[in-house]
Amino acid sequence: MKLKTIYICNSCQFESSKWLGQCPQCSQWNTFMEDVINVGKPEKGSLSKTPRSLKVGTQSPTSLENSGKNTATRLFSDIEEFDRVIGQGITPGSIILLSGEPGIGKSTLTLQIANNLAKKLKVLLVSGEESVEQIAGRAGRLNLNEKNLLALNEYNLENILATIRAEKPGLIIIDSIQVISSMDFPGAAGSITQVRYSTERLLEISKTTNTPVILIGHVTKDGTLAGPKVLEHLVDTVLLFEGDRFQQFRLLRAQKNRFGSCSEVGIFEMTENGLIEIKNPSEQFLEGRKQNAIGSAITVAMEGTRPFLVEVQSLVSTSAFGFPKRTANGFDLNRLQILIAVLEKYCKFNLQNQDVFINVVGGIKLSEPASDLAVLMAIASSYLKKPLPQTAAIFGEVGLSGELRKVIHHEKRQKEAEKMGFTQIISSGNHKEIQTALRILN
Ligand code: TYD
Ligand code: MG
Repeated sequence: MKLKTIYICNSCQFESSKWLGQCPQCSQWNTFMEDVINVGKPEKGSLSKTPRSLKVGTQSPTSLENSGKNTATRLFSDIEEFDRVIGQGITPGSIILLSGEPGIGKSTLTLQIANNLAKKLKVLLVSGEESVEQIAGRAGRLNLNEKNLLALNEYNLENILATIRAEKPGLIIIDSIQVISSMDFPGAAGSITQVRYSTERLLEISKTTNTPVILIGHVTKDGTLAGPKVLEHLVDTVLLFEGDRFQQFRLLRAQKNRFGSCSEVGIFEMTENGLIEIKNPSEQFLEGRKQNAIGSAITVAMEGTRPFLVEVQSLVSTSAFGFPKRTANGFDLNRLQILIAVLEKYCKFNLQNQDVFINVVGGIKLSEPASDLAVLMAIASSYLKKPLPQTAAIFGEVGLSGELRKVIHHEKRQKEAEKMGFTQIISSGNHKEIQTALRILN
């Protein structure tokens, strides 16, 4: 093996032999990280060695008619929210990256999946972060005690691979890929080199033995950690586990999926007994809602293909200082500034000397334009000190001249609201502009 040091842009993967302050390809600053690559002859058994077929002649293509419908070999964890997001269970020989911020619940989720699957096959849970006692302690608290659930505290890649070969598990979980390191390569655990090399070796064992692997990967708040970015290209599926660490709800979504769609979202609640699936999110998100609360609006958000109701709260109060504050939790701040400007211009609200705070209940993030109208109405309700009708569900995109624009999945949203007992739908379907929608507060 002959090693060479290169520098890679973590944003666009541009390679350079020298460290650069700014990337010449994507113009980002400070994105270059040291990497070590093997420029020698490929080793026996390494991925890059796979010979290409040089045979010229007729091949036999497969008809797509019935292939792909067979999901019999998939592994079902029986945690429906997970199985659906992953695409009808885990595909044998696939490699899944489960990423999320520290403390969001990745270890808990994988432990629950592992325990369920251990009823059918041998599961090897390798943790480089926690001791076996710690894992056993958590499993005990959650009442997870399958005999075929094996835990191992190890961060050395060669030892992990040897254990996999000896134990022949049906599912491998690595917690987390950032702490695994190989003796063959220089560089600390978590560096691009180590993360990529470890993943490649695990990929190799996964594909040759047809064993699925779940890799856990940490990302920071802005998602910039070296590991997962590089990893995304190598793995079959990238799952994101998100939510507010201090709130109970968690969303599981697929960012990349070679075996299913990316439009499904799984919803969980973190409780003291682990993660619980939320089958009816609307009911959960509206729990604890105050009657006739000023500044509260209910909107219908979409996560994947599923609509659900969420409460948006606003507080408008006179600024103590000259410069008014705008704060949003779960909603885009720039979007909030626009909505305030629209209210000032077209509804003659005087918000110049008012602080405006927005909070989306349950730690949910509303990123669709469809939630504009509910945020705007919540602000108006607080400003006018009048509650919105208890049975009103609100959605619609607000345009810069105060017009309301149609949103996608209009009918789905309306049906969900009606199903939950909301009889008054205030939307772009029945109002053309915000002025008429706001009349409900008169
Ligand atoms: P953890 O799965 O360790 O997160 P990650 O692996 O993503 O870092 O769990 C995160 C938090 O969840 C931890 O601070 C404690 C809390 N928690 C519960 O609230 N209930 C539970 O049943 C468990 C196991 C953890
Ligand atoms: Mg963990």
